[in-house]
Amino acid sequence: MKKLLVVYWSSSGNTETMAKQLAKGAGDAGAEPTLKPVSEATVDMVKAAEALAFGCPAMGDEVLEESEMEPFISRLSQEDVGGKPLGLFGSYDWGDGLWMRNWVQRMKGLGALVEGEGITAQLEPAEAALEQCYELGKRLAG
Ligand SMILES: Cc1cc2nc3c(=O)[nH]c(=O)nc-3n(C[C@H](O)[C@H](O)[C@H](O)COP(=O)(O)O)c2cc1C
Repeated sequence: MKKLLVVYWSSSGNTETMAKQLAKGAGDAGAEPTLKPVSEATVDMVKAAEALAFGCPAMGDEVLEESEMEPFISRLSQEDVGGKPLGLFGSYDWGDGLWMRNWVQRMKGLGALVEGEGITAQLEPAEAALEQCYELGKRLAG
C-alpha cells in the first residue's frame, strides 16, 4: 500500500469534495491517505510520499490559485515528484479546462507520472466526477 498525500486548495468547497472522495477511495483500498489543505502542506511531506494527488480549481484567468497553491507547486522539483504517480483534479466554471491541461503538462515536465488528463468537474462535482475521484484514490493507493 503506497503512502498517499492529497493536497488541495478550495474556496467554495467543490474541489474539497473531490479531495475527500479521492481520499475515501484510497482509504477503502486499505491505505491511510494524508489529506491536507495546501496551507498545511509542506514540500517535505511531498518528498516523503510515494503517491500524490493535488487539487485546485481554475482561478484567475485559467491558472492555479495564486496566493497558496501556485507558490506551493512552484516550490516542487523533479526530486520531489519525479517518478511518482500523481493525480490532478479540480473544479471550474466557464472555461474549457485550459488550467488543467497546462497543469498536467507542467507536472509531466517535472517527471511526475500523471494519471490521465486530470479530473475536472464543473462547479459542484456530479456523481460521475466523484466516482472518478474515488477510483483514482483506489488506483493511487494500490
Ligand atoms: C476569482 C475567480 C477566478 C476564477 N477563474 C476561473 C477561470 O479562469 N476558469 C474557470 O473555468 N473558472 C474560474 N472560476 C470558477 C471556479 O473555478 C469555480 O467556481 C470552482 O467551482 C471553484 O472551486 P472551489 O469550490 O473548490 O473553490 C473562478 C472563480 C473565481 C472566484
